[in-house]
Amino acid sequence: MTDDDEAPPSRGGYGPDRRAFLNRMSRALSGLIGAAIGVPVIGFLLAPLFEASPRDWRPVGKVDAFRIGATIEVSFTDPSALPWAGLTAKMAAYLRRESASAFMAYAVNCTHLGCPVRWEERSTLFLCPCHGGVYYKDGTVAAGPPPNPLQKYPVRVRNGQVEIRTSPVAITRSV
Ligand code: FES
Repeated sequence: MTDDDEAPPSRGGYGPDRRAFLNRMSRALSGLIGAAIGVPVIGFLLAPLFEASPRDWRPVGKVDAFRIGATIEVSFTDPSALPWAGLTAKMAAYLRRESASAFMAYAVNCTHLGCPVRWEERSTLFLCPCHGGVYYKDGTVAAGPPPNPLQKYPVRVRNGQVEIRTSPVAITRSV
């Protein structure tokens, strides 16, 4: 038996077994505290990825406020917005009254990369200012990079109010 085989001398009255035990306890407690803090935080951050976006009917104006044949921009509140969203919870859509009882509603976001399109009354086209996307008045693509027609919202009339059923706007991710 050599001097190297002997246990190191204890310091401050703690033997090697006790020191190793305290070391393990310290690591275990650190892990528990880390999990107690980290799990709720990660859950809070990831929860929106697994929640379905709420869809809701939103009033956008009285039926009489819309002239037959006219396309106008309307606004409504996003049902999926967080309570502190403020003005950013406001969304817009284009609404056209086709007849006395029929309405069409289109998302304002271009299906290419999401820029807001503009309605041109004289040419009866939706124009996207970002990359030159053009849509016909029925929302179908007339020219440019948009891969899909403008998204349509379901519309209904309830108690003299025109209502739009909100849904997430689908945007392509490729350029
Ligand atoms: Fe509209 Fe690109 S975002 S054409």
